Amino acid sequence: MSIYRNRRTFKPVTMDPDKEVPRELLTDILEDAHWAPTHGLTQPWRFHVFTSPESRQRIATTLVDLYDQLTPENQQDPSKRKKLEVAPRRAPVVIALLAHVEPQGKIPEWEELAATSCAAQNLMLSAHEKGLGTFWSTPPVACSQEWIRSLGHDANHLALGLIYLGWPLENEPNPRSVRAPLAEHLFWHDKVE
Ligand SMILES: Cc1cc2nc3c(=O)[nH]c(=O)nc-3n(C[C@H](O)[C@H](O)[C@H](O)COP(=O)(O)O)c2cc1C
Repeated sequence: MSIYRNRRTFKPVTMDPDKEVPRELLTDILEDAHWAPTHGLTQPWRFHVFTSPESRQRIATTLVDLYDQLTPENQQDPSKRKKLEVAPRRAPVVIALLAHVEPQGKIPEWEELAATSCAAQNLMLSAHEKGLGTFWSTPPVACSQEWIRSLGHDANHLALGLIYLGWPLENEPNPRSVRAPLAEHLFWHDKVE
């Protein structure tokens, strides 16, 4: 069984809210994420981890406040606001993902984002291997400068949203998560003999 092909998104509503993720297991997953490749070994990822009901309630409140503050009135959507309020309280682990980008540094911003995305994929695959479900969520508020500041980082950082993590209630992958045939994305430059 390939962990690459079988990993699927599990939204917080499909996670068991009462089943904790042991700290040791979570640290192991984060260590796997930390071994992602980076140009120049800059290791730009920053993980902010929230596990207690109190800390998850705090970020839910911050996200909703930022939604009210940053979303133009004619674009406010009560269902999106509700998700920000509910999801961090439902998933037993919430990880805010940030990338450090050195201004005028030798590594361009896109490479630091790519490296941080490699770390995110490591994290999701490691969690999946251990039977946990994940959901990478990128609402605009969790990618905003205001969110970065609320986490205590300066403007030399980019926010890449949140990764929710928890034990799936049912181990059923989302049947709608399919892929187009590989051949549509693949360009061989050698003839098959
Ligand atoms: C960078 C990135 C950002 C994502 N942001 C969101 C999001 O904001 N909302 C959402 O519903 N899914 C989001 N997803 C999850 C995708 O919807 C999901 O990975 C895709 O549907 C494929 O399903 P699978 O993960 O089950 O294979 C994101 C995935 C990635 C890689």
